[in-house]
Amino acid sequence: MTKRTLVVCYSLSNGNTRRIARQVAEALSADFEEIETLQPYSGSYDAIVDQGQQEVNSGYRPKLKPQTYDPRDYDVVVLATPTWWYTMAPAVASYCLEHDWKGRSLVLVQTHGGWPGHTLEDLADACKGATVIGELQVQFDSEGGDHLVSDPSLVEEWIAHLKQQIQ
Ligand SMILES: Cc1cc2nc3c(=O)[nH]c(=O)nc-3n(C[C@H](O)[C@H](O)[C@H](O)COP(=O)(O)O)c2cc1C
Repeated sequence: MTKRTLVVCYSLSNGNTRRIARQVAEALSADFEEIETLQPYSGSYDAIVDQGQQEVNSGYRPKLKPQTYDPRDYDVVVLATPTWWYTMAPAVASYCLEHDWKGRSLVLVQTHGGWPGHTLEDLADACKGATVIGELQVQFDSEGGDHLVSDPSLVEEWIAHLKQQIQ
């Protein structure tokens, strides 16, 4: 039986994470949700990088806009985050805390610029009770831009494999 699948992403700088998450959602014909903070980030890229460092170091959890979908209504949740200071973006940490992960199968996706850190481990820890059934790391350029460094065909292969695994 086809599993009910939700793809959730957070994406700020260039839409890198959104781009990968949408690709996954389209391939799986999954519902798609984008997390947004109640208070938008503003200022230059460098200013956001600095603010992000403070937020990560202090464990700040921003308030989020209400979401359309509830992970509890799905068998499989694909959760995609950009890397912020070697871990998930604070908005994604808020999302993990807000939801009940018991019994969910979780697929973790991370975009980064060359320093992936401990993001996937932290995500798995933050979604207590979920079973991680897949992981993907996608590298974009080290300047914080939108140039895809990872081989796109490997991303496609990974998506095709995931599709076989869950459908
Ligand atoms: C606040 C902040 C912190 C970042 N920290 C890292 C990092 O620790 N390691 C890394 O490889 N990239 C880091 N980056 C780069 C992003 O992870 C990368 O550009 C990502 O693909 C952006 O995704 P988005 O366009 O969906 O927001 C950081 C970017 C920001 C804005």
